[in-house]
Amino acid sequence: MMILSSHPSAWVLAAGLQELILLAGSDAYAAREASYWAENASLSPYCIVQPRTTNEVALVVKALSETDGPIGLRSGGVTQWAGSNDVKNGVTIDLGKLRDVTYNAQSKLASLQPGARWDEVYGELQNQGVCVTGGRIGNVGVGGFLTGCGNSFHSAQNGFGCDNVVNFEVVLGNATIVNANSTSHPDLWTALKGGSGNFGIVTRFDMFTFPATEIWGGNRISVRSEGEKLAQALVDFTNNNNKNPEDAFVIDHIFDPSSSPDVIVLQVIVDTHGVINASAFDDVRKIPAVVDDVQKRTLQDLADNERVPSRQQQVWFSLSFKNDIRVINKGAELHDQLVEELKALIPSSNFATECLFQPLPTIFTEHSIEKGGNVMGLDKVKENALIWLIAGASGTPEESAIMREKLSALTASFEQYAASEGLGNDLEWLNYADQTQNPLKSYGKENVDFIRKVAEKYDPAGVFQKKVVTGWKISKVSQ
Ligand SMILES: Cc1cc2nc3c(=O)[nH]c(=O)nc-3n(C[C@H](O)[C@H](O)[C@H](O)COP(=O)(O)OP(=O)(O)OC[C@H]3O[C@@H](n4cnc5c(N)ncnc54)[C@H](O)[C@@H]3O)c2cc1C
Ligand SMILES: *[C@@H]1O[C@H](CO)[C@@H](O)[C@H](O)[C@H]1NC(C)=O
Ligand SMILES: *[C@@H]1O[C@H](CO)[C@@H](O)[C@H](O)[C@H]1NC(C)=O
Ligand SMILES: *[C@@H]1O[C@H](CO)[C@@H](O)[C@H](O)[C@H]1NC(C)=O
Ligand SMILES: *[C@@H]1O[C@H](CO)[C@@H](O)[C@H](O)[C@H]1NC(C)=O
Repeated sequence: MMILSSHPSAWVLAAGLQELILLAGSDAYAAREASYWAENASLSPYCIVQPRTTNEVALVVKALSETDGPIGLRSGGVTQWAGSNDVKNGVTIDLGKLRDVTYNAQSKLASLQPGARWDEVYGELQNQGVCVTGGRIGNVGVGGFLTGCGNSFHSAQNGFGCDNVVNFEVVLGNATIVNANSTSHPDLWTALKGGSGNFGIVTRFDMFTFPATEIWGGNRISVRSEGEKLAQALVDFTNNNNKNPEDAFVIDHIFDPSSSPDVIVLQVIVDTHGVINASAFDDVRKIPAVVDDVQKRTLQDLADNERVPSRQQQVWFSLSFKNDIRVINKGAELHDQLVEELKALIPSSNFATECLFQPLPTIFTEHSIEKGGNVMGLDKVKENALIWLIAGASGTPEESAIMREKLSALTASFEQYAASEGLGNDLEWLNYADQTQNPLKSYGKENVDFIRKVAEKYDPAGVFQKKVVTGWKISKVSQ
């Protein structure tokens, strides 16, 4: 009896929540573990708890905070690193049943629950004639994206996803439910905009909306030798994004032998106002493409089209840089070398890599500031910048260990190059970073101190530092 009652799931059972539990061995449990985007992220907990309402989240937090075992938390389950959204030898709180998306025509706000995915969000809101500043890829979860800031196709018009959250409904560590907005717990409201899972469980995001329009957008693919011209086009685009805030652009050097034996350069171009042949892309579209599916479509259709295949071992690292062509060319060169090195170590049919550059112009942060500010520390960055992601997918844990070593080394030498040329930028994009990186620290001392203070104020017992162990923890950031 003692042994049973120390088992975390026993507490949830004792709290009358047995209906919410998926036990290891059941089909429902297996389906949820298989729903993690990265194979490496699912860690087979003792059991999964799926609350269906905010009150049930509060009951679960109360029951579990009285147990000894570690607790995990997931929304979409998309984050790629092991330990971000699932837990070994513990209980994972799975918000997958909290996925309502509603629109209030009076307040003009949309309310999203954390377990929804962006394609569902866009589909539902489209029916009501509105849209929100959300994810670019359909299967990404709402909860992790928005608490980790969220870079959107609409960021040059509206700021980051988190900047557009007017109110967070949050279950705190003592199971109290609070609203955090500009007038109620404003410190918590600000800290949740980029501060991730350090304060509580967000059960509802109330967001600004704008009228839904068709967009013009999609993918172009060019051969590797067009890389330098595309790099110049991205630098110019980023410098002009304030004049064309309705437009979004990213370039991605990809090695994926299932679609091409050579490195290719993917370009995602979007005019969110739906202007065909939008002039911001004139230079890009002069560069020859072997594939071009750019067309008039809904945002939901684009988000679905951009889905990235899952269920592989994933390793990601992220840095940011000044918006300079030397950075993009260097990154592309390092990626070419990486592919050659990996081919000698892993059968090439078993891995894929990408080296992604995306604009981080100051216009994004101007909107953040107008809307109340966040904790990313970008208000101190006075120059246009680029967010960089290097990603490697492979088939087995052994291959993934090789991948981690190579990507880690590449990231270190890229950072060193940038520092030596004066092209570095502090921010590590939290939603892309590897577990060995320190994205919260990259927000700067003032923001780290603020996040720490807010976490201690709203969670004095440290439930979201010591018990809920998944994700980025401010208590692990050195002073
Ligand atoms: C294919 C792909 C495309 C992507 N595209 C983009 C993009 O365009 N822009 C961008 O910014 N990012 C993008 N990302 C990164 C993505 O935003 C993060 O992985 C994000 O964390 C996923 O959200 P999730 O709900 O699935 O998080 P999960 O993996 O479920 O959770 C991760 C962490 O988030 C925190 N968290 C989650 N839900 C809550 C909650 N309700 N309350 C409090 N804390 C919570 C917790 O700390 C948790 O540990 C992409 C990722 C992938 C794999
Ligand atoms: C802010 O929170 C208070 C207190 O719960 C609530 O009354 C108010 O409606 C909230 N504001 C918004 C914009 O949600
Ligand atoms: C857009 O550009 C394409 C290719 O340059 C051209 O064929 C098409 O007619 C243009 N469409 C419009 C509406 O301008
Ligand atoms: C992948 O996850 C497993 C546990 O599920 C872990 O043992 C392994 O080290 C992880 N590999 C990497 C590269 O993170
Ligand atoms: C729960 O925690 C919050 C933040 O510390 C505090 O304001 C509130 O009084 C606590 N509620 C209870 C019932 O202890």
